[in-house]
Order: sequence, then C-alpha cells, then structure tokens
Amino acid sequence: MNILVTGGAGYIGTHTLVELLNRGHGAVVIDNFTNSRPESLRRVREITGKSFALYAVDVCDEEALSRAFSENAIDCVIHFAGLKAVGESCERPLAYYRNNLDGMMSLLSAMGRHGVKKLVFSSSATVYRSDVPMPVDEDSPLGSINPYGWTKFMCEQMLRDVVAARPDWSVVLLRYFNPIGAHESGRIGEDPSGIPNNLMPFITQTALGRRPALRIFGNDYPTRDGTGVRDYIHVVDLALGHVAAIEYAEKNAGCEAFNLGTGQGYSVLDLVGAFERVNGVAVPCEIAPRRAGDPATVYSRVEKAEKMLGWRATRTLEEMCRDAWRWQVKNPNGFAE
Ligand code: NAD
Ligand code: UD1
Repeated sequence: MNILVTGGAGYIGTHTLVELLNRGHGAVVIDNFTNSRPESLRRVREITGKSFALYAVDVCDEEALSRAFSENAIDCVIHFAGLKAVGESCERPLAYYRNNLDGMMSLLSAMGRHGVKKLVFSSSATVYRSDVPMPVDEDSPLGSINPYGWTKFMCEQMLRDVVAARPDWSVVLLRYFNPIGAHESGRIGEDPSGIPNNLMPFITQTALGRRPALRIFGNDYPTRDGTGVRDYIHVVDLALGHVAAIEYAEKNAGCEAFNLGTGQGYSVLDLVGAFERVNGVAVPCEIAPRRAGDPATVYSRVEKAEKMLGWRATRTLEEMCRDAWRWQVKNPNGFAE
C-alpha cells in the first residue's frame, strides 16, 4: 500500500516508516518539524535504502494536505502529527486543541475530498480514566485529566462519528502505552527538546552525565517497591503494530480501538535497575515528591490486538534499555549534530 504518514519525522513516525518501507509499502511523509528535524528522515532513508516524498507542511493547512493527496495515489493514512507534552498542554491548552483537533479535521476533510477511507490514529493510554482497575482493556471507561488527553479523547470521538456516518471507512485507534527504546542500528531514536519529561530519556541523559541525577517521583505508591508502575513497550514493537493495523484496515471497515502495550507493568526502580545491569552504567537517583497527575499503576490488556491484529510485542525490558542507551551514546545530542 501507499501510506501517507503525518508526523513521520518524529520518534514513533521514523520507526514506523522503517518497518513500513522494509515490508515493501510506499510512503509519503508530512511534517512541519515543530518537534523534529529533517535529519531523522535522512536516517530512515539510510537505514532502509528507500526513498519517499516529503511535504514540509502543517497538517492544519488543508490546501497543502490536498496537494499531497492529489500528487500521490494514497491508500491509507497514519496520523502521528500532534503535540504531545502533558505539562505544556496544561500551560497552553488552546495551542493543543488547535493543533491536534484542527489537524485531525483538516486531514479527514482532505481524505474525504480525495476518496481515501483508511486511517490509523495515534491515540494513547491517557484516554483511559486513571482510577479504573488494571489492566485496562479497550472497553474500560474513558476520560482525562489534562488538555493533551482530552485532544486524544475528542479525536477518537470525532473518528467514531465519521465512521458512523460513513460505514465504508476503516479507522483504527491505537492506544499506545509507554514507548521507549530505539532502532537497533542506533541511527534513530527519541530526541526530546530541552529537559526530558519522560522517564527513559531522563535516564539515558543522566547516565551520560548531562543531568546530575534522576528524580524518582514518589516512592510511597501502593506498588511493590513504592514507585510508579507502567507498561513500557519497545518502539520497534509499536512500529510493527502499525504495520499490522494498516493491513487490518485494508480488510475491515468500521472503527476499532486497540491497546498497544506488553501487558506487563514495571516500576521506575525496575527500569533503572535493568538499565544499569544491561548497560553496565550507573544512574544516580534521588527520591522526589510525587508528580501531579501521575497514577500509581497503568498497564494494558493486550488480548484484543493479539486476536484481531495478529500482533504481539516481543522485545524485552532489557532490549528496550540496551537500544535506548546505544542510541544515546552514539548520538549524545540527538539529531542536532
Ligand atoms: P513526536 O513529537 O516525536 O512526533 C510528532 C511529529 O509530528 C513531530 O515530527 C512533529 O514535528 C509533527 N507535528 C506536530 N504537529 C504537526 C502539525 N500541525 N503538522 C505537521 N506535523 C506536525 O511524537 P511521537 O512520540 O512520535 O508521537 C507520535 C504520536 O503518538 C503523537 O500524536 C503522540 O501524541 C502520540 N503518542 C505518543 C506517545 C509517546 O509516549 N511518545 C504515547 C501515546 C501517544
Ligand atoms: C506520560 C504522560 C502520558 C503520555 C506519556 C508519553 C503524564 C501524566 N502522562 O506518561 O499522557 O502519553 O507520558 O508521552 O505526564 N518518572 C520519574 N522521574 C522522571 C520522569 C518520570 O520518576 O523524571 C516516573 C513517573 O512518575 C512515572 C514513570 O516514571 O511513574 C513514567 O513516566 P513518564 O515516562 O513521564 O510516562 P507517563 O507519566 O506514564
């Protein structure tokens, strides 16, 4: 298939492009580089030996989007483009609603004009209410406590409404748990700007000496060791989940949500311990107060994706730690050099 990948220059987008191209699919990328650099796409071409068209435009710009559709025969869209920082979304809610909702609406409108009816959407585990029993399955109650989460919730609702009106469309909502790790080549990986908010980039930058110590947000949660538990998933497994999702969308109409996780919960101390052991490096840590809005434990039920997509995550926590560190050591400044 020929796939339009919005946000293709980002962390998950680049890893997914590699797996799509390796599988023989064609790609067309849209990205405005608001949170990425063209260098990441150059490396995708280097890893795969394949090329693809790039439109350096904003997904909110429907006319620019329309050009990408009219100049290429697109079969399916994967929509990664969006702003994703929870804390920033609380400070700049309108920017998040505008970018994430306008982008979704422009894309759906351009798809409708060009007769493209298959879409895979990057949703998030953050659409689940945090006070529900774990593990969460796809029917667990939805809700959010921050603007970023609401944008995902609202995009999901918009997509369900579009499919209700157009039953021949196929929309796959992928709810990611916590993607970490990097491609095994060490050529692409996560490149957060500024001080990382997420745990793994903070660990790798601390191990490298760029940060003095990892602050562990709370050791008094009702978990095995008191630290927060999450469902970490290797980004290459996540990328392969998208390959399975487009192949599912090719054969099935309707709107379906899937958890993409491993079904396993690991604590902050589990992750730090595995990272130190596998890579033979120290990660200085200090205990800090809980971070506002953090639930104690989040992990997924994965049976639905196994059964309906024929996909399952296979990479271990150790592989996630090894690959994240290889990327960081080879690229201490990310894609900036
Ligand atoms: P990322 O920031 O690395 O990638 C997103 C890409 O979209 C970037 O290259 C950015 O420049 C681009 N972009 C943003 N707004 C755009 C716009 N208006 N027009 C064109 N391009 C635009 O993020 P990621 O980690 O790769 O996440 C991809 C998607 O998955 C996002 O929608 C995110 O919300 C979602 N998600 C990510 C995680 C995670 O932990 N990384 C978890 C759940 C869901
Ligand atoms: C966060 C977002 C979530 C988003 C995901 C991926 C919140 C509340 N949730 O998930 O919406 O989809 O990122 O972008 O922000 N931790 C530390 N020290 C750190 C960083 C994190 O102890 O410096 C702990 C956290 O308390 C948590 C775990 O590590 O227990 C994972 O945190 P993080 O990587 O930020 O992911 P989430 O909070 O699960």
